[in-house]
Amino acid sequence: SDQSVFDVDVWTLTRFIMETGRQVKGATGELTQLINSLLTSIKAISSAVRKAGLVHLQGLAGNVNVTGDEQKKLDVLSNDLIINMLQASYGTCLLVSEENKDAIFTPAEKRGKYVVCFDPLDGSSNIDCLAPIGTIFAIYKRASDGEPSDKDALQPGSQIVCAGYALYGSATLVAISTGTGVNFFMLDPAIGEFVLTDRNVKIKKKGKTYSINEGYAKYFEPAVNEYLKHKKFPEDGGAPYGARYVGSMVSDIHRTLAYGGIFMYPANEKSPKGKLRLLYECNPIAFLIEQAGGIATTGTQRVLDVQPESLHQRAPFVVGSPDDVEEYLSFVKKHQ
Ligand code: AHG
Ligand code: MN
Ligand code: MN
Ligand code: MN
Repeated sequence: SDQSVFDVDVWTLTRFIMETGRQVKGATGELTQLINSLLTSIKAISSAVRKAGLVHLQGLAGNVNVTGDEQKKLDVLSNDLIINMLQASYGTCLLVSEENKDAIFTPAEKRGKYVVCFDPLDGSSNIDCLAPIGTIFAIYKRASDGEPSDKDALQPGSQIVCAGYALYGSATLVAISTGTGVNFFMLDPAIGEFVLTDRNVKIKKKGKTYSINEGYAKYFEPAVNEYLKHKKFPEDGGAPYGARYVGSMVSDIHRTLAYGGIFMYPANEKSPKGKLRLLYECNPIAFLIEQAGGIATTGTQRVLDVQPESLHQRAPFVVGSPDDVEEYLSFVKKHQ
């Protein structure tokens, strides 16, 4: 076998997407173009993230977005990069971003058939302390003909064509799925390409950690607190779970995919639908988690089955290893 460390037949994400596209009968290459453009913006964001402290890209931009978050300079830069690259791909007609109150219509002469919902920078409260942050996206085929409208973006997550996230962590990685499993690609900065490192990733049946902002315990429903107590003081003689919470969902999710376990942002008294936003946070992650063999629930419903009613609506979110999420659901059931 070839032991050379220099791969001369490298599976880049671009190659992977081209190959996947080729296998679809009648495919036009539009999705391939779209994803390539998106990857270019992700590479640019990665570069900006890594030198933010050197080029005055830390700190606030001065505005508050529609869901009440203070925008950081990097939120705005990442958003502009993604919008411009997606519109330039000729593959989109409508974009929904965390940072824009209204859906963004692609200029008529550049329109294609896809809708993209995205969180340009996830975990932006972690920018200035150099903890991992990310980008999240979900791609849909538009649902109507004629002029695009919000309706085209208000599709349940089960209609996703492709979803993924980029993690700007100790390395930059893209996790992506077109509905046939999840693959991880690591950015090789030397060639500026994402290289396939983990094929058909599957989540562990059961993990050893729970991930939640437990500081809000005072406001949680009894089922959540009882579940957490069970993780810390197992009555069955098992070992207690470890606690891990970065506060950047992409980072917490990537760990959950890599090591197993459960991630939760449930409803609480202060935010009755939780915090995470359905279209560009919950749905794409739920799609990946399911593609990896995990479960994604609101506590009462499969996340991907929720019929969205507005662009920035929130949803309670509990995802991870199937045994762990099932166990959580058994506590929910007890309290019904
Ligand atoms: P964003 O930075 O895109 O607004 O998302 C922040 C989200 C998510 O990344 C994370 O899981 C959650 O906020 C953390 O919220 P708490 O600080 O309430 O734990
Ligand atoms: Mn935000
Ligand atoms: Mn986010
Ligand atoms: Mn964000």
